[in-house]
Amino acid sequence: MSVSVDYNAAKKFLAAHELANLAAGAAQANELLHTGKGAGNDFLGWVGLPSAAKGNAASVKKIASEMKNNAEVIVVVGIGGSYLGARAVIDAFSGSFVSASAKKGAPTVIYAGNNLSGQYHMDVLRFLEGKDFYVNVISKSGTTTEPAIAFRILKEYTEKRYGAKASERIIATTDKAKGALRKLADEKKYRTFVIPDDVGGRYSVLTPVGLLPIAAAGIDIDGLLDGAVSMEQQTKDGSLEKNPAALYAALRNALYAKGYTTEIMVNYLPRMHFIAEWWKQLYGESEGKDNKGIFPASIDLTTDLHSLGQYVQEGRRTLFESVIAVNTESEDVVMRSQSDDADGLNYLAGKNMHEINSTARTATMLAHVDGGVPNIVVSLDAVSPFTMGELIYFYEKACGISGYMLGVNPFDQPGVEAYKKNMFALLGKKGYEKEREALSKRL
Ligand code: PA5
Repeated sequence: MSVSVDYNAAKKFLAAHELANLAAGAAQANELLHTGKGAGNDFLGWVGLPSAAKGNAASVKKIASEMKNNAEVIVVVGIGGSYLGARAVIDAFSGSFVSASAKKGAPTVIYAGNNLSGQYHMDVLRFLEGKDFYVNVISKSGTTTEPAIAFRILKEYTEKRYGAKASERIIATTDKAKGALRKLADEKKYRTFVIPDDVGGRYSVLTPVGLLPIAAAGIDIDGLLDGAVSMEQQTKDGSLEKNPAALYAALRNALYAKGYTTEIMVNYLPRMHFIAEWWKQLYGESEGKDNKGIFPASIDLTTDLHSLGQYVQEGRRTLFESVIAVNTESEDVVMRSQSDDADGLNYLAGKNMHEINSTARTATMLAHVDGGVPNIVVSLDAVSPFTMGELIYFYEKACGISGYMLGVNPFDQPGVEAYKKNMFALLGKKGYEKEREALSKRL
């Protein structure tokens, strides 16, 4: 096992019996996920997905390979669960500056339809000028406004660039039968991948939603799925001793019960930034309902020690942290001694940056614990396709367990509709006339 959970730095805040009291609830929640007897049980397709996806990866790899061979850029059009998982994995393997491509020679992956900025989408079109590209439009409902708007713009541009061959450049990932995107894809004869009915957006990274862009970026999806399968097996048993996801879920619920209502995911590697963005969406949409739920936040360290660090150290004591500790870096820089030692850094000579970063992590954790912030550490040996697969399934499983322990349905998101209704009304969509009138009076 390479993903593990350590809670030594939370023990000061949690009596042993407070965690032990939640063991039965965690095991029961895990059981509900496997028996399908809990709330939202028509969205449990992700539970056995890693093993199932292994058999279906060939069709994804075939199209991904065509995209790799024929494009410099892939535009992933999607929002929320329809792009964050792919972006989290792709960013974990990408260089920081040159491009978003995970592997030399693989296309650069860029993202559209996750915001409503005209400037951003003009930048997307400018970036595509003179380059060969594919568009992978992803929407389970097929009706989400942000990706639909972006896709309308990109479809027009693709048709202008590729003429009669435009349809070959567009791959749609959507529902098997319903939604405007399915209708359009069938009409235009786009090649399509289906998002299973029983997998919600935020649990869909191991379906073609995530696997196609990840594979097209040159990342080994077999390794990713192997890691996920390994975690699927490690989390079958519901006990806190054997199941790291159950342990993490129980720890966060135990801390929540004691008033720690905000969890900050902390990473020390810029490449892990989008893992936290994906995690925030997964936990925020799954648990934030019925006036309950831990608020999922994130900080990038050591960067944010010089901004939010002050709040974490001395602000309101409602925070706990879950730190992602990566034990090895793939590349590193060694500090060398300099004869004048003008910057006074010769005491670091011989150490590499990973060692310095790890020491910063230990030092920060000790300081935050002293400041009253419980810390949970989720460790990985390294960033590899296997460990990313493990990590994804670990957080998904823990989220399902945690949501059931909290007493909510972790698989719906009724609150997401509220802004949409208002936006449609204010934009003048047909059928929203009454709402428009009511809202106008409030403006
Ligand atoms: O997790 C979810 O269900 C949501 O975040 C969706 O992924 C997001 O709203 C996009 O929906 P769709 O794929 O239907 O366009």
